[in-house]
Amino acid sequence: MPSDKFNLHIKNKIAPFNKIINIDSDKSISIRSFLIGAISENISTIKNVLESEDVISSINCLKSLGVKIKKMKSKNYNIYGKGLGSLFISKNKKLNFGNSGTLARLLIGILSTTPNIDVKIGGDNSLNKRNMKKLIELMSEFGAKFLPINKFKFPLKMISSEMPIGINYKAGASAQLKSAVIFAGLNSYGETKIIEEQKSRNHTENMLLNNLQAITLKKISNKKKIIKINGKQYLHPVKIDVPGDPSSAAFFTALTLLNYKSSIKIKNVCLNPTRIGFYQILKKQKAKIKFVNVRKKNNEIRGDIFIQSSKVKPINASKEYYVNSTDEYPILFVIAALTKGVSIFKGIKDLKNKESDRIKEMQKVLHQINIKTVSKKDELKIFGKGLINADNKKIYVPNLGDHRICMSSFILSILTGAKARINNFETVYTSSPSFLKIMKKLGAKFEIQK
Ligand code: S3P
Repeated sequence: MPSDKFNLHIKNKIAPFNKIINIDSDKSISIRSFLIGAISENISTIKNVLESEDVISSINCLKSLGVKIKKMKSKNYNIYGKGLGSLFISKNKKLNFGNSGTLARLLIGILSTTPNIDVKIGGDNSLNKRNMKKLIELMSEFGAKFLPINKFKFPLKMISSEMPIGINYKAGASAQLKSAVIFAGLNSYGETKIIEEQKSRNHTENMLLNNLQAITLKKISNKKKIIKINGKQYLHPVKIDVPGDPSSAAFFTALTLLNYKSSIKIKNVCLNPTRIGFYQILKKQKAKIKFVNVRKKNNEIRGDIFIQSSKVKPINASKEYYVNSTDEYPILFVIAALTKGVSIFKGIKDLKNKESDRIKEMQKVLHQINIKTVSKKDELKIFGKGLINADNKKIYVPNLGDHRICMSSFILSILTGAKARINNFETVYTSSPSFLKIMKKLGAKFEIQK
């Protein structure tokens, strides 16, 4: 059920703060937990699930596919696994992925090799604008069909493969495509082999680690990994306690670094090395960020992040950083704008196919407070001014269906004093339902207009 629509008005700067907060749970891990639970045997249990729109869309799709999911108490769920190849939906019914590219790509991965699936697929306006060509080409290799032919955007119809056979795939920067291939391979005959040369997020692999009969990982070098999937094996149920989301924590990190005399401790955040590129870029630029109480649970590293106001240097993010900070670029652009000097971001063209064209839309936001930016094909330069006072300026963000543009614009406004109107702020509930509650705790002032 989509949340009620509302616009947000911001008029004031935020004052210094010193706080300890808990952050919303990780979206990637939450969505994967439900999907893997559904195709495993017996009962999977997930604690501390993110109860956001994207996760609710995942639960609803799985329920439409016949999976029993029971909420035990707040944020705790039992999934009664149907096993590989057992999801089913009547012909011509529709699956609605909402705003979630992760759900769309991963579930299509599962369904492409599940027998007798003939279903309409689509999402909200933002998702329906995103290009699914690479996914469609890959799933076609497994034998799935997508109609109409040569249309690469939702809504579409998908018909699963009648005889799925494993494929070879050289993975790029996308963890969603890698995961889709893993899922499709799990129910294919023979072996699926993935060669990974850029380490994209590996939560799917981590969650399947106790299924050596089905999936094995081989490290070839520091960068290169081979994932082998042996299809048609039973999967053991999962038991997961979901850590906090480092991508949601990034907004509070940016705010603290740039604000005066502030500090924050963000508890129990996922610190998987494939997710912390944002923090590594900033540490390199003299940001005061410390990981403390670091530990491992359910095959995922987690810990607390301690952040203090810092004099950050301009950012130089080479192409290598892209894969491990994919979702953090909008907020990195805000940090660059409020840091004196020229920052450069390279290898970022995939940002054009996120929930919105994140390069173009963030440029529009920054231009409204007179921050100069120059974009080339695969690169963005931002001419940062330091922490400016922009209380004579206005920021307007239209309905883009992009949670991270909304949150980045919010941070820009409370730091500079620019008056902001951000339309359809409810889109933030796709990933971070507690964002406004935490902002209030830190002392941010805003008005909600329904
Ligand atoms: C995600 C992978 C990334 C990221 C998205 C979540 C995932 O997308 O942007 O928010 O959970 O696998 P790509 O795989 O398209 O880079």
